[in-house]
Amino acid sequence: MTLLQLIAQRASAAFAAIGVPDANPAVQPASKPEFGDYQINGVMAVAKAQKANPRELATRVLEHLDLRGIASKLDIAGPGFINVTLADEFLAQRVIAGQQDLRLGAGVAHAATVVVDLSSPNLAKEMHVGHLRSTIIGDALARVFEFMGNKVIRQNHVGDWGTQFGMLTAYLFEQETSKPAEIALHDLETFYREAKTRFDEDPAFADTARDYVVRLQAGDTRVLALWERFREISLAHCNAVYKQLGVKLTDDDVMGESAYNDDLAQVVTDLRTKGLLTESQGAQVVFLDEFRNKEGEPAAYIVQKNDGGYLYSTTDLAAARYRDHVLHADRVLYVVDARQGLHFQQVFTVARKAGFVRDDIVLEHVPFGTMMGKDNKPFKTRSGGTVKLVELLEEAESRAFDLVTSKNPDLAEATRRQIARTVGIGAVKYADLAKHRTSDYVFDWESMLSFEGNTAPYLQYAYTRIASIFRQAGTVDANAELHLAEPAEHALALALAQFPELLQQVAAETAPHFLCAYLYQLATRFSRFYDACPVLKSEGATRASRLRLCAATARTLSTGLGLLGIDVLEEM
Ligand code: ARG
Repeated sequence: MTLLQLIAQRASAAFAAIGVPDANPAVQPASKPEFGDYQINGVMAVAKAQKANPRELATRVLEHLDLRGIASKLDIAGPGFINVTLADEFLAQRVIAGQQDLRLGAGVAHAATVVVDLSSPNLAKEMHVGHLRSTIIGDALARVFEFMGNKVIRQNHVGDWGTQFGMLTAYLFEQETSKPAEIALHDLETFYREAKTRFDEDPAFADTARDYVVRLQAGDTRVLALWERFREISLAHCNAVYKQLGVKLTDDDVMGESAYNDDLAQVVTDLRTKGLLTESQGAQVVFLDEFRNKEGEPAAYIVQKNDGGYLYSTTDLAAARYRDHVLHADRVLYVVDARQGLHFQQVFTVARKAGFVRDDIVLEHVPFGTMMGKDNKPFKTRSGGTVKLVELLEEAESRAFDLVTSKNPDLAEATRRQIARTVGIGAVKYADLAKHRTSDYVFDWESMLSFEGNTAPYLQYAYTRIASIFRQAGTVDANAELHLAEPAEHALALALAQFPELLQQVAAETAPHFLCAYLYQLATRFSRFYDACPVLKSEGATRASRLRLCAATARTLSTGLGLLGIDVLEEM
């Protein structure tokens, strides 16, 4: 049980004892040190419902609040808040218990199977910044769920099927007569543009392209082989980005649109059997009363076009069914751009109506906003084109290299390069993860690479400071007892002990920014502790205890950053 849950449980018992068993105790971490460590805020709502005096009610709750051995101080504040200050010995024991656990006390009681749909670029083109957020946020969430002991299945739902692949394979066939596929596809963006130009300008080529779509869908071996080559080279481009980003995604996680191809006819048949299909202008449609437009007409969810072709929407129904029936997911997270919100609400509705998924499966769209340039418009290159991910990440590393060089010119170049890589990639990821994912965010090199404020370099630097303490400390007692004598020690220990509840919040709200805010607070509290409490210059049990606090902080920082997919450094 987390600290928060423990206090909430005791507070609920106190409410029950005064005859309000279903009151929400509304326990929160205190927002200011003068409010103690936690606040029980539920009294006011109960008082209002009972038309009672809140302070009197708070006094009665307090009489029944059993936090013996847990809190050192309880007081009533303001209109009826109950402030809880944890006992130092109890807090110390919580920190130690967390340190003795592989999961830092954050393991779940019941492991769930969590499917994370992430990254999912379209293979026809090179990955761009739009897929960066899905990749980074999805990777962080997958790591958090995994760390807590759940079974996580990553699904990279790449766009590797559809009409444009007729055009692309036809163009690849033409190109291959003069050069090998690897060279023709060296730059996917250019390749796509050229194919499109050919398609628009040459009717004969356009006919071939259309013929290739038909053949591809019919499983023609020659066209299929071209498609496979195209797909493989495209995926290699993606893998290069994943590697550079340090994202846990491999070919084993790829479950693209093409994988569901054979199931699409069945999806349509099953919808028909369920009586959900209507033919509308030759297309097969599910009309959804749940989604009406301004004129009051139900939304049309099209699953088959009038030419017989299937759509993105058909594939997502097949995927939902697969994730339930085959992967046995308890929860599916679709980490996809907010602009696809309506699509997913409709997928989930149709999948449930059709019985493609169990009633108790949780299907969640985890939306995120757009990455903006400093001009507050969607992030583009100077000439207005889409920014390629590879180039963006290279720039991150080169900017970080300049930064590291200016801070630490004496380090060997290879070392500086390696540090720059960790700092640069960490900065890009952290700047993304630190904002609430649903808001659009401004991509700004200066602020993300700053050593001040809520940034990756600040946290990485905090870690190196602790690493340097241990380089100077000599032999340390890893099992030393913790004594929390100073307020700064108490505040730091509290943050350490809150790691489990923090991860719980990240998982419940699928929101990594809570973890960022937490790590920033942890680093800030460490900094205050380090200013207020001498570590290396103290002696005996005090020194040992403080070193243990340092070690716990280092481990929590590196674990937390690791869950965001960010590495730490011994020096920088
Ligand atoms: N390939 C799609 C795109 O780039 C994203 C796919 C997201 N996942 C899904 N199951 N639809 O827009």
